[in-house]
Amino acid sequence: MQPAAPTAYSHAVNAELLKRLIRSHRRDDEEAFVDAAEQLIVAERRQGHVRIADDLAAALRETARASPKPREQIATVHELPRSKTEGASLLDTGTPARGLDDVVLAPETEARISRFLREFAHRARLAEHGLPPSRKLLFHGPPGNGKTLCAAVVAGELGLPLHYVRFDSLIASYLGETSANLRRVFDHARQRPGVLFFDEVDAIARSRSDRDDVGELKRVVNSFLQLLDGDTSEGPIIAATNHESALDDAIWRRFDDVIWFPMPDDAQLHEYLRRRFRSVRTLGLSVDAAAAQCRGLCLSDVARITTDALKAMVLDGDTALTGALFEAAVTRFQNARSRRRSG
Ligand SMILES: Nc1ncnc2c1ncn2[C@@H]1O[C@H](COP(=O)(O)OP(=O)(O)OP(=O)(O)O)[C@@H](O)[C@H]1O
Ligand SMILES: [Mg+2]
Repeated sequence: MQPAAPTAYSHAVNAELLKRLIRSHRRDDEEAFVDAAEQLIVAERRQGHVRIADDLAAALRETARASPKPREQIATVHELPRSKTEGASLLDTGTPARGLDDVVLAPETEARISRFLREFAHRARLAEHGLPPSRKLLFHGPPGNGKTLCAAVVAGELGLPLHYVRFDSLIASYLGETSANLRRVFDHARQRPGVLFFDEVDAIARSRSDRDDVGELKRVVNSFLQLLDGDTSEGPIIAATNHESALDDAIWRRFDDVIWFPMPDDAQLHEYLRRRFRSVRTLGLSVDAAAAQCRGLCLSDVARITTDALKAMVLDGDTALTGALFEAAVTRFQNARSRRRSG
């Protein structure tokens, strides 16, 4: 297969990837770093620099981390709030190197996120006019369409740390301890401005009318509502769920904006794949054809299929992503899914 000749365009792609590599390294965002490195390898191979691509791939393999750990988590671990009785850290804190360019959203979703970012960035000007900026967001929608990712995007766009609440250590076995842990989390957010993120918030905000619910969980919902009401921290608070019907009615009213993350339509699939294919050469594979094969899937599944196809291309030593490689990745995904369903 003939490699593509280096062009001004390919130099620009490599420069962009190198920038991403540096930025993600400086922010210690392992996932973004590996993603940029893999794309760089693909781009080098595509330009016919097979030796360089192989060397880079070997370097990436040799230095692979057993478990990615954000630098901030190490640096500030002693300062993070902990469960008194169980000692576990209640938050993971990191500085995500993510921006709006890293997500493909439905127009309405994107407009709401952008508006939120704008209001927050100009909160001082709004305050001069006695207008409070939106600060609390609730993300909801079917699994795998960017809710968790967008919390990182909001933090990345605002240049704030992301405080990710760890429900595994927050929800305690001792009576009253979960509410005390929640209070510690809100206290920490007040002292250390950042984006406070309650992912899968249904874990602590289940409807209080659930018949099989125990008293302790009802108390936790009440505490959460009170802490949200009384919160005087400065940073955004984001909660996300894909179980909206399980959420207590009172929770919805506590948020300034409720943002829906729908399943992707054809335009979104198209845009997502266009971006993923940007730094590779495709052969017998159009974005339209790939999008048609992904219809009905969430973006998380499409991301997985695309990465799978690109990996197969790199491992086979190919210099182009072919229709056959992509189709094989779709088939592997569907087979795994049907095995999971029947198993
Ligand atoms: N809108 C999107 N734009 C770009 N990539 C996306 C998008 N949605 C999902 N992805 C890809 O799928 C991965 C998983 O998405 P994410 O965890 O944000 O979904 P979620 O909505 O939080 O799902 P869940 O409800 O299961 O928690 C992301 O890390 C990203 O690779
Ligand atoms: Mg999520």
